[in-house]
Amino acid sequence: MKIQIINGPNLNLLGTREPGIYGSTSFDTYLSTLRQRYPDVEIAYYQSNIEGELINKLQEVGFTADGIVLNAGAYTHTSIALHDCIRSLKAPVIEVHISNVHTREEFRHHSFISSACRGVICGFGLDSYRLAIEAILCQ
Ligand code: DQA
Repeated sequence: MKIQIINGPNLNLLGTREPGIYGSTSFDTYLSTLRQRYPDVEIAYYQSNIEGELINKLQEVGFTADGIVLNAGAYTHTSIALHDCIRSLKAPVIEVHISNVHTREEFRHHSFISSACRGVICGFGLDSYRLAIEAILCQ
């Protein structure tokens, strides 16, 4: 079982970026607890601040991974290219957000990628990623 986590722009700053919204745990620290929790699952991780690089990674893993957990960051709210890419893949993609985007600014209420994804999990802090993994494991 192989699950790919992909984080988009500014998520490399988790732990220091707006801790009141995103918490004070770095993604590296969280990732090691996730890997310990799921020893039988190969959890690969990729982060990029660049839209085209996210698309390249999705295309690279999207026909072999058992599932993809995608936090596209702000590209969620802007990217038709990511929408088209997700629709082209074989692997199910779960959209995740650390914060509850629906309680925040209005520009975060619309996602261009939700309709292309298998499902959406948002608002549970970093635990959103674990819940997305559970969703993939239950498929
Ligand atoms: C986010 C929410 C987005 O609106 C924002 O641009 C992010 C992080 C989240 O995980 O809560 O970068 O995807």
